[in-house]
Amino acid sequence: MLSAYEIIRKKRDGNRLSAEEIDYFVKEYTAGNLPDYQASSFLMATFFTGMSDEEILHLTKAMMSTGVIVDLSDIPGPKADKHSTGGVGDKISLILAPLAAACGVKVPMISGRGLGHTGGTVDKLESIPGFKTQLSIDEYKRILASVGLVMSAQSENLVSADRKLYALRDVTATVESIPLITSSIMSKKLSEGIDALVLDVKVGNGAFMKKAIDARKLAKKMVKVGKLYGKKVTAYLTDMSQPLGREIGNWDEVVESIMVLRGESKSTDIIELTERLTAEMISLCTEEGLASAQKRVQRAITSGAGYEKFLEMVRAQGGDLKVVETPGSYPKPRFVLEAKSARNGYVSKIDTFGVGMANVKLGGGRAKVGDKVDPVVGITVMKKVGEKVSAGDVLAVVRGNDDSKTKSAVEQVISSYVLSSGKPVGSKLIKERIS
Ligand code: URA
Repeated sequence: MLSAYEIIRKKRDGNRLSAEEIDYFVKEYTAGNLPDYQASSFLMATFFTGMSDEEILHLTKAMMSTGVIVDLSDIPGPKADKHSTGGVGDKISLILAPLAAACGVKVPMISGRGLGHTGGTVDKLESIPGFKTQLSIDEYKRILASVGLVMSAQSENLVSADRKLYALRDVTATVESIPLITSSIMSKKLSEGIDALVLDVKVGNGAFMKKAIDARKLAKKMVKVGKLYGKKVTAYLTDMSQPLGREIGNWDEVVESIMVLRGESKSTDIIELTERLTAEMISLCTEEGLASAQKRVQRAITSGAGYEKFLEMVRAQGGDLKVVETPGSYPKPRFVLEAKSARNGYVSKIDTFGVGMANVKLGGGRAKVGDKVDPVVGITVMKKVGEKVSAGDVLAVVRGNDDSKTKSAVEQVISSYVLSSGKPVGSKLIKERIS
């Protein structure tokens, strides 16, 4: 008879688990028959001792089997998705999904909530009043068929195991693990019924993988799992050594995404990355060249077709359109403070993890399973790497609903900035393509 205790002990000691043992643990935990403390120990043991490729495949499969593998064969057209390994200010999914749909690719996206210091697409979408992310399979398919995209959370029906394990990893410091990230992402993506997948593997001080060597390893594992399931998969290594764009915070990231979709944003990093990843999705589905696909994506921004798709999706998922069309009508935070520089120089480095944690502490992320996130708190990055700063300049604006937490976030943001006297050489945004 299988025992959770024995499985944890075996993994703790660095031994390989069989498919049967992994399947047992995942299913029993998901069904509520194992307590969180045993699942936490299993996660920590995996974090420290790792898993073989075979174990990762078994874990992915076991997680997929806790939900439905959606059959989208009755919905015409190519289906593709993109998933990021997580970063700070990474709102690309909110922009890319409607743009891809406007270019004729169906996007059945299943996303997660905030994880550790990083934000999550589901929390951002839920900052739109009324927006529903828990969908039945029928709703998921109906919205995809009628709008061309759907953005859902993991649920009882969709990769239920990831819903529980993801929430537990968020608060037990067990996120930065290649087997756990691979199985979490790939179980969601392989359950969606897609033909093609683009993976955005973040690297840098705001990513779970700080070094390119680890990010590349993670990318290759995910590509391998995807290909074993017969999917077309391409991974990109992209920079996360500073926040993406200017906004960090659930509602503010929705607003920044709307600005990009309306063609009103000056955040060149978000625009460059979104265009490239969306073009890659189109190219994987249609064999169209990347340059030509990217031109179509640009047209979907200038024509407003991507923004229209975003509005259609918000309407279909129950969100309040009025607030999306007039973001200024959204509730305001109680405290807005400026984080100012004490000296002159150039921004040479931003501790992106520190800035992400400042947002979590403001209430933008979770400290415990089940914590509610505050949609209005956040940070606007006023100075990015390479920009010139004079003493007294505002490095970032911090918004909170609690006086002392807002003040403490300001301190944390200030201490996250490193200035140099000379202009630094910035990191390349798109570093590598792995297919
Ligand atoms: N995104 C996921 O969905 N899962 C992870 O483990 C990390 C990022």
